[in-house]
Amino acid sequence: MLETSIASLELDNPVLSASGTFGSGWEGRQFSDQHGKGLGHVGALVSKTVTLAPRPGNPPPRILETPAGMLNAIGLENRGADAFLRDTLPKMHELRAGGARDGRRGPRVVVNLGGTTDELVELARRFCDAGVDALEVNLSCPNVAHGTRSSTDPALTEQVVAAVKKASSVPVFAKLTPNVTDVVPIARAAQNGGADAVTLINTLLGMAIDWRRQRPVLGNTTGGLSGPAVKPVAMRIVYQVAQALPTLPIVAVGGAHSAACVLEFLCAGASAVQFGTAMFTDPALMVRVVGELEELLAREGQTVQGLRRAAHRDASASAGCGQQQEVAR
Ligand SMILES: Cc1cc2nc3c(=O)[nH]c(=O)nc-3n(C[C@H](O)[C@H](O)[C@H](O)COP(=O)(O)O)c2cc1C
Repeated sequence: MLETSIASLELDNPVLSASGTFGSGWEGRQFSDQHGKGLGHVGALVSKTVTLAPRPGNPPPRILETPAGMLNAIGLENRGADAFLRDTLPKMHELRAGGARDGRRGPRVVVNLGGTTDELVELARRFCDAGVDALEVNLSCPNVAHGTRSSTDPALTEQVVAAVKKASSVPVFAKLTPNVTDVVPIARAAQNGGADAVTLINTLLGMAIDWRRQRPVLGNTTGGLSGPAVKPVAMRIVYQVAQALPTLPIVAVGGAHSAACVLEFLCAGASAVQFGTAMFTDPALMVRVVGELEELLAREGQTVQGLRRAAHRDASASAGCGQQQEVAR
């Protein structure tokens, strides 16, 4: 009932973690056991962005709560590929193995990569050799110098994606920025470059001012906005890209916080949904959502595949959205 796929990657369900918000999954596993179902029940775990060399990240403060979400300017802090391959990837594999029972596949291991084109190519080779299930390429970090350059220029997007795809033996998702006038040409460029899917969206560029100190609050001056405030923006972008490029699988991310959010994104044209900022306030959320999705769909006599088909059935997608409203009620 919950099975879905993102291109050739088959998943037990459409519930994934969002890069940078849940570590590798290992750090949050004890919270997820609260509901009698562990992290082994989620569709996939997506790592924080890994770069070739370690990165210290941006100066503090790096995060700030906003009325309906948060601003972050972490700056891709990570210990680099060697440490990740040695210490972290085996734990993600362990979580996958733990979930692969009773006919389940267990949480698919998706590693998010960042860096220059040459670095991405090397990272892709190393991580494919190390047995990941898919790669997500972060073309869209607003918190590092030139971090969004490769997903604001279609030619560059196509070039970077094509290089990574050539070096990869697993599906490649291109994670795009919402900080452009129109995401469709960028998504089309990613598809032309061979992306198996696009992940929509990374954070919206924002900032906060401390008027007493008359200075920006964040050490990096600007940061990325995420959480409930960005969900309508993510929904609009997922819908627009699904309408324009119906053969390109979409992984939705932005403000998801419930089972109904998953169904809404599926009806907008997504194949799966990532949970990010909402996991900070409720680290057991993803596992609970998997259970709630099961109940909701059983009650309504629907399946994830059925909703996805409805979303893609007619060009306007209005029929699909109409059905979704029935289900979510
Ligand atoms: C603290 C924080 C760190 C993040 N780090 C990354 C990252 O390393 N790589 C990446 O691709 N996205 C990163 N993101 C973006 C999220 O994966 C996601 O695209 C965004 O937060 C929107 O989803 P949400 O509203 O559900 O959080 C980060 C977001 C937050 C809040």
